[in-house]
Amino acid sequence: MKRVTVLGATGSVGRRALELCAQFTDVFRIEGLAARGSSPDLVVELCRIHRPKALALIDERAIDRVSRALPHPRPEILAGPRGLDTLAREVDADVVLSAIVGGAGLLPTMAALESGKAVAIANKGAAPPR
Ligand SMILES: NC(=O)c1ccc[n+]([C@@H]2O[C@H](COP(=O)([O-])OP(=O)(O)OC[C@H]3O[C@@H](n4cnc5c(N)ncnc54)[C@H](OP(=O)(O)O)[C@@H]3O)[C@@H](O)[C@H]2O)c1
Repeated sequence: MKRVTVLGATGSVGRRALELCAQFTDVFRIEGLAARGSSPDLVVELCRIHRPKALALIDERAIDRVSRALPHPRPEILAGPRGLDTLAREVDADVVLSAIVGGAGLLPTMAALESGKAVAIANKGAAPPR
């Protein structure tokens, strides 16, 4: 069984990877999910499907909304860039998929590498200007 953390879980790479993991539940187990929190309802849906042990979100309003919507037992919810680092570093995983867009993906990717995890990297460019 490969334990997987997905950074950028709500993005197109992250969602596709999660769909694949859901088709092979005897091979992959989702341990951690992370996103900015732009789509709280999608985050809730992904947590209901994959039941991660931990969830990291950047957007504080999303954290509030997701916490209220999730049924028990809830994943541990980690907040902000520090929470993202903790998720990548401390949640037990064999593989961390790095699919956060842009520079925000750099530090959690380094955290995963520093903690000895294999990193599957999708992130290849800068975020578009907002
Ligand atoms: N799409 C492809 O076919 C493809 C192919 C090869 C490589 N890539 C590369 O893979 C990376 C991801 O691509 P994508 O198409 O999946 O991007 P995307 O659909 O825009 O998804 C980006 C993901 O990053 C999260 N995110 C954005 N800013 C964040 C922040 N500050 N902190 C934490 N999470 C943040 C988003 O969360 P929210 O949804 O909550 O905002 C979302 O989960 C990019 O670097 C891209 O260049 C993509």
